Amino acid sequence: MVKAVVLGAAGGIGQPLALLLKANPLVTELGLYDIVNTPGVAADLSHISTPAKVVGHLPPDDGLAKVLTGADVVVIPAGVPRKPGMTRDDLFKINAGIIRDLATGVAKYAPNAFVLVISNPVNSTVPIVTEVFKQHGVFNPKRIFGVTTLDVVRASTFVAEIVGDLSKAPSIKVPVVGGHSGVTIVPLLSQSSTPLPSSVDQGALEKLTYRIQYGGDEVVKAKDGAGSATLSMAYAGADFANSVIKALKGESGIVVPTFVHLTADAAGGEALKKELGKELDFFSAPVELGPDGVKSIKSLGKLTDYEKKLVEAAIPELETNIEKGITFIAGSKL
Ligand SMILES: NC(=O)c1ccc[n+]([C@@H]2O[C@H](COP(=O)([O-])OP(=O)(O)OC[C@H]3O[C@@H](n4cnc5c(N)ncnc54)[C@H](O)[C@@H]3O)[C@@H](O)[C@H]2O)c1
Repeated sequence: MVKAVVLGAAGGIGQPLALLLKANPLVTELGLYDIVNTPGVAADLSHISTPAKVVGHLPPDDGLAKVLTGADVVVIPAGVPRKPGMTRDDLFKINAGIIRDLATGVAKYAPNAFVLVISNPVNSTVPIVTEVFKQHGVFNPKRIFGVTTLDVVRASTFVAEIVGDLSKAPSIKVPVVGGHSGVTIVPLLSQSSTPLPSSVDQGALEKLTYRIQYGGDEVVKAKDGAGSATLSMAYAGADFANSVIKALKGESGIVVPTFVHLTADAAGGEALKKELGKELDFFSAPVELGPDGVKSIKSLGKLTDYEKKLVEAAIPELETNIEKGITFIAGSKL
């Protein structure tokens, strides 16, 4: 039995994400929560002939407590999306408060659930969830994840486009590490499971790296005021949730990049900090998932000189983003 919950389930990401979770045969109960429209979304999804029982809740009548009770996996895409001209960090103030309040609910009503944070800026919202859990005495670093899968999905697709064969996109694996905004997104293209063609010179490699780092901007611009990536994000979020659920049910050998607290695997985390040459608390690294959440944090492997430079550029920005989340909670009344 697996109960999955979506907080922000009526939104641009929330609705298609809820649809994909309803279509996942491993999910037996699906709880939807938002400040608007969840009864309608739940009624609509409940007619789909898959196993999950669907319930929708709104804030009145203890809706948050009801939806979270018994949850195994909580996915959080609640918030406000980026508009043109807005950076991910501009969103910080609004989304930080929303995440703080929802994390407080999870800490109270589903403290053992796996928490998958989609709301941006992920580099700061994950530290916010962590601080809230610490204050409630329920922090377990193995169970809190920043969802960076969209960067991985984009990298696979863009490499398949360059190789000239989109049918390869689902099987191409490119580790994307660091964090989840701009320069903190570090695609390790030298480790692509399908090597890039030799025609890709340093200039083309830098263009591809930039496209992965700023792929979100392409969507914001094309949507022209109607929001940011929602459908590709829902796909990526459902894919990551599926990895977590499969691991929860005992499947071994699942390794995916995700943004985690580096104490989630003390030895692996320390080794990674040595590799980075920096005492960072959070980093997105390839992580092996298990029934209790993070099983191990893996090394970044062999990096090219260019990739080493990208990691170096990511670190100061990551430090600032992480600190911003922690400071927000320090100044908040919980
Ligand atoms: N991690 C990623 O790769 C990634 C990619 C794209 C977007 N995002 C982020 O995901 C978030 C959502 O984006 P969207 O396009 O779905 O936005 P959206 O505005 O379409 O949906 C957000 C939903 O959250 C709900 N919400 C707001 N406050 C809430 C609260 N307190 N409790 C419950 N629900 C609440 C809103 O009612 C709305 O339905 C944004 O922060 C966006 O930047 C992340």
